[in-house]
Amino acid sequence: MQETRLDTDRILAACEVIDPVFLNTPLYRCEALEPHLGCAVSLKLETANPVRSFKARGTELITSLIADAGASAVVCASAGNLGQALAWSGRKRGIVVTVVASRSAPAVKLDRIRALGARLELVPGDFDQARERATALAEHYGFRLVEDSLDIETCEGAATIGLELADTSPSFDAVLIALGGGALATGVGHVLKALAPGVEVICVQPQGAPAMTHSWHSRQVVTTDATDTIADGVAGRNPIPAVLDDLLLVADDAVLVQEASITTAMRLLLHHAGLVVEPSAALGIAAILENPTRFAGRHVATIICGGNVDIDAYHRWVGATPGRRDRSRPCS
Ligand SMILES: Cc1ncc(COP(=O)(O)O)c(C=O)c1O
Repeated sequence: MQETRLDTDRILAACEVIDPVFLNTPLYRCEALEPHLGCAVSLKLETANPVRSFKARGTELITSLIADAGASAVVCASAGNLGQALAWSGRKRGIVVTVVASRSAPAVKLDRIRALGARLELVPGDFDQARERATALAEHYGFRLVEDSLDIETCEGAATIGLELADTSPSFDAVLIALGGGALATGVGHVLKALAPGVEVICVQPQGAPAMTHSWHSRQVVTTDATDTIADGVAGRNPIPAVLDDLLLVADDAVLVQEASITTAMRLLLHHAGLVVEPSAALGIAAILENPTRFAGRHVATIICGGNVDIDAYHRWVGATPGRRDRSRPCS
């Protein structure tokens, strides 16, 4: 296989640096979900940690290197979860953290970034505008810019999930991975291709934020003008060329799912797995719902990658079940 930017030995070494609270997360077969999906399903749970997402695996790595290099201030653009994770890891190491996020990011994510002691700057527009502002702040103040998915540590931190998946016996037939900037998919994909090459690596994005998936299929960067999805964690418009190159080497497929499948998947995870997840974390289950024949009879793992969701929005999405409305309708 052609080489990605990632390095398996560095990923193994990363496990010594990342706070153990983020490592060796639960991985279990969720039989209660299976009748609804028509295949064996295992969940890799990345929500039961202090920042409720996988992103701290990467920020632990990057802040430890930054602290060793003597830098004391960092800035990142974030849809919310990276900022929260960077705030957590930076606080632990005495690094001053600035996060730039969209004003429309979920309040729960913004509140937690502030609560963890980071300075938060909000911009109008979306994540890509936040990226521009973070770059400008880094240039102006000399802060170290942390760029999700481009900085190799964000990918190699996420890749430690791949080590934990590859260590599982018997192995899975396929792993479904939420795709945003690509740190998670390139990280996990790299390790699976290196250590468990028989596992199919499938990336999942919403139809309303398809830039990286379109790029993967056309083997060149495709940008979009806007995004329209509830899965805020994966809603980017401008894929990074180096990340796309890596993704082309490690992903076997990239699929798009509809918003209705995401909310159905969130509801299934609540009702049958007892899990409150944010929309991005339901993408894998949504992909199974949209193509049950592809997965029938196979054992599929999916990473439950985040649980930071505004509770009112969550109730709106998960509560609006046709079944429940039907039940409350008077008999005719
Ligand atoms: C919950 C969640 N899932 C998936 C992703 C996408 O990860 P990546 O940007 O590494 O592709 C993110 C990104 O922040 C996220 O917060």
